[in-house]
Amino acid sequence: MSRVATATAHPNIALVKYWGKRDLPLNLPAVSSLSLTLDGFHTTTTVTWGADADAMTLNGQPAQPKVAAKALRFLDLLDPARPPCAIASHNSFPTGAGLASSASGFAALALAGAAAAGQDTDPLRLSRLARQGSGSACRSLWGGFVTWRRGAQADGSDSHGVPVFGPDHWDVVMVVAVVSTAGKAVGSTEGMERSRLTSPLYDTWLAQAEDDVTEGETAVAARDLDRLGRVMEASTYKMHATMHTSQPPLMYWQPGSVAVLHAVWALRAAGTSAWTTMDAGPQVKVLCHRADAEKVAEAVRPHAAAVHILGPGGPTRLEDR
Ligand code: PMV
Repeated sequence: MSRVATATAHPNIALVKYWGKRDLPLNLPAVSSLSLTLDGFHTTTTVTWGADADAMTLNGQPAQPKVAAKALRFLDLLDPARPPCAIASHNSFPTGAGLASSASGFAALALAGAAAAGQDTDPLRLSRLARQGSGSACRSLWGGFVTWRRGAQADGSDSHGVPVFGPDHWDVVMVVAVVSTAGKAVGSTEGMERSRLTSPLYDTWLAQAEDDVTEGETAVAARDLDRLGRVMEASTYKMHATMHTSQPPLMYWQPGSVAVLHAVWALRAAGTSAWTTMDAGPQVKVLCHRADAEKVAEAVRPHAAAVHILGPGGPTRLEDR
């Protein structure tokens, strides 16, 4: 007998960044991080528990073998003796281009898989599981502002997302400037290991990360955008400095990314509270008040292929179908 469940998850963008692992097989981070789950973009995934054979489609096409193998291996974590399963996943936004599709992807897969298997769907349990698919996915189980505590246990039991404030806490938005939708050159796991092993800045990065998370949480609690923006940019550019000083260097930025950064900083110098962040890709995300979103979008549009305005999003949820 087969059982089917469908779940929808939103991506999240780190306000204080995660870069570096302390355990590869369990995917345990070297640092804590703080994120905002976003509405607008989503992944919807259906799992059929008990199919003719293991198979995966992404946006209606057979998934690339590596992508399918990773997703199906993830279902083994739910049950090593599972039956063949079929996964059908849809992203409403570009996959693998620094827009956090792996975060929403593994959060949706964890919930759809657990529900299809008839298992416990407690978000804490699913966050620990999702972490093993993609670290940042453990933050997408909840809406709004989420901290991923690095944890101290060797088995990873205390390394999971913790909801800090829900999506209604604060009406800030991320203006996403899509500079390029080409896939990433170096994946995040390989990049993090390269930074850990070769960047002379890596230890400084680690030493300051926990204080940055505390500062970020304090700023979110106080709804203080300038304070949050300052620590977000500090964390972002410390992470990128660690990338740039790896051997060989990791440079996720494109010329368009730098043009967007300067456009935002010029706007800020002229009085708008707008703050930049970037991840393992060329896109630039700009944090601002919703009332300033159009002004920010207008400033970055000349340098971007597309601009999206995304507010705080809700938790990963099951669909009735
Ligand atoms: O867990 P991954 O593989 O999605 O890595 C995420 C790394 C960054 O996006 C660069 C930072 C972050 O905290 O999301």
